[in-house]
Amino acid sequence: MRDKFRGKDFLALMDFTKEEVAYLLDVAADLKKKWTMREPHEYLRGKAYAMIFEKKSTRTRNSFHAAAARLGAQSFYLRPDELQVSRGEPIKDTARILDRYFDGLYIRTFGHEIVEEFAYYMKNPVINALTALAHPCQGLADLLTIKEKKGDFKGIKICYAGDIYNVCHSLMIGASMFGMDMYIATPKGYGADPKVVEVAKKHAELSGAKIVFTEDFDACLKDADVVYGNTWHSMGENELQKEQRIKDFGPYQINMDAMRKAKKDAIFMHCLPGFRGEDMTDEVIESTQSVVWDQGENRMHTVAAVMVATAI
Ligand code: CP
Ligand code: NVA
Repeated sequence: MRDKFRGKDFLALMDFTKEEVAYLLDVAADLKKKWTMREPHEYLRGKAYAMIFEKKSTRTRNSFHAAAARLGAQSFYLRPDELQVSRGEPIKDTARILDRYFDGLYIRTFGHEIVEEFAYYMKNPVINALTALAHPCQGLADLLTIKEKKGDFKGIKICYAGDIYNVCHSLMIGASMFGMDMYIATPKGYGADPKVVEVAKKHAELSGAKIVFTEDFDACLKDADVVYGNTWHSMGENELQKEQRIKDFGPYQINMDAMRKAKKDAIFMHCLPGFRGEDMTDEVIESTQSVVWDQGENRMHTVAAVMVATAI
């Protein structure tokens, strides 16, 4: 399997098979064990990675720095406003130059076509750190967390409430691949990217998963094993509609009343950052059902797995 990944880009979970994603989860679990036991795992000693973030980040950017350090690699943060690309140098020129210096690029940007263009012009792996379409590193960490907390994916029901965007898309692909039902609370006028829905439906046909979009929050919460939250106004253009979105998503807040409608042993997950009093309450995130800190830690182990697997 390692040979299949060597030099491969990691742009979206939907670019991979279930077996390939399962392999990355195994590598992540192994790296996590080594990290926990303080066993040396400097598999990328001598390598250098570039990072470009056009949007803010706490987890994604810093988990990559930390993962690189633990793997013996160095990571260099390139400020977008300091690159010539901000003066109009084409992405294809930037990509080919960075490819000559670095062993890989980790990039957070707006449109998915931007990471695709970098990937097209670079031989070294390009890893998507979030676009409008996908947040595959988050998706991988979410899968690892569900597996750790619930033991298996079989029979799991996820209730998702929050912006139906990158994080939701990646979780939908992961859930449909591994046979988990995902009920997405959908205010009127909102929905997922049709390309993602199409791929998720294909996976669901094979795995038996249900992917359901509904305005009925109670139906999403009923018998849920995982209650998953996300902001209502994602970074970028969705943030511009903040007021409208707060109104539209208002009935879908994850509070203790909502948690009581899920299974008794349901866990609360959230990609973070969350907005207490909007998409969830302080009581929920601080409750014993909340696994968000373990989930956040898993961002580091899963991105380490992607780096190790894709390294040339
Ligand atoms: N979940 C996540 O990607 O967080 P950051 O925006 O802080 O990286
Ligand atoms: N959907 C959110 C996720 C942040 C990690 C956003 O794009 O802002």
